[in-house]
Amino acid sequence: TGKADALWELASQETGVLRLALGRAVVAGGYKGELPALNEGAGAALWILWQFVRWGGLKYPGLKSFAPDKPGEIFLMDLNDENPRAVELRISRGFDLASFNPHGISTYIDKDDSVYLFVVNHPEFKSTVEVFKFVEDENSLVHLKTIRHQLLSRVNDIVALGPDHFYATNDHYFFNSILTFLELFLGLPWSNVVYYSPTEVKEVASGFYSANGINISPDKKYVYIADLMAHRVHVMEKHANWNLTQLKVLELDTLVDNLFVDPYTGDVWGGCHPNGMKLFFYDPENLPGSEVIRIQNILSAKPTVTQVYAENGSVLQGCSVAAVYSGKLLIGTVFHRALYCEL
Ligand SMILES: *[C@@H]1O[C@H](CO)[C@@H](O)[C@H](O)[C@H]1NC(C)=O
Repeated sequence: TGKADALWELASQETGVLRLALGRAVVAGGYKGELPALNEGAGAALWILWQFVRWGGLKYPGLKSFAPDKPGEIFLMDLNDENPRAVELRISRGFDLASFNPHGISTYIDKDDSVYLFVVNHPEFKSTVEVFKFVEDENSLVHLKTIRHQLLSRVNDIVALGPDHFYATNDHYFFNSILTFLELFLGLPWSNVVYYSPTEVKEVASGFYSANGINISPDKKYVYIADLMAHRVHVMEKHANWNLTQLKVLELDTLVDNLFVDPYTGDVWGGCHPNGMKLFFYDPENLPGSEVIRIQNILSAKPTVTQVYAENGSVLQGCSVAAVYSGKLLIGTVFHRALYCEL
């Protein structure tokens, strides 16, 4: 449709415009593990947790970064507000903020209404998963634990399955940028998906060129994985032992980065890079553009793929994620700004 109006750029802070990093909006309605009906309107507490990094965001081997050396931050936006603003969440003492370099995020709402936020972190270019508890009254995050594991070597995105278990994608085998480029250009399908719990950690899917965004269907039966370099979205079936088997693959003509699942419709939204070369070899004279696609009826024999937004980079560069709520669309990027649209 391409009709999205750019209404608003995220709130300025003293350095200028806030930049949205790689990440995924996670919707938590009323913190009850259930979403409010859409027509409940402003009364319904609907929040979108989103990660931002000021001025250029995620620092990642092989990717452009506009960032001076500043730690990452986590922001909260309430899309029920008439003029939604990104509010920085305070992070509890004891957590090493100086090396905070957030990447993929996911939330889990427990039976007791606790909201857990899982954040992929790259302190000193290593990979960890940080688990926080969200304290609504204080707009703060209490750090609970740091998870490290040799199978979580180069984590990109994460989807929480419980208060201490999740699936994570390793987008590459190597972390070193030269070896990563070799891996990409040799086309080594060494990227995988790992299941983590305190008692068991294992690879549950493999053979990806660069497993990137990961998300789960509203009924929790299917897992969607974006293989960025392969231009594919994999639909996986989840089994009782947490293993994943492939149901089908969607071939797309764009590089799908992160996936958002609309909890009301089950539609899968992808933030996409129409041209990988422009993304990886940044040239201010030849900017990377942005694309957002919506996949409807993904489990059916004929899913419908719609291009909802496409732009040449003059407005938005390097789109990596898109999320919708109640006719509002938020688009985030790898290192550029975020866009708030009304559909
Ligand atoms: C990008 O799109 C804008 C708006 O449509 C247009 O003015 C501009 O010339 C385009 N830039 C390039 C490099 O094509």
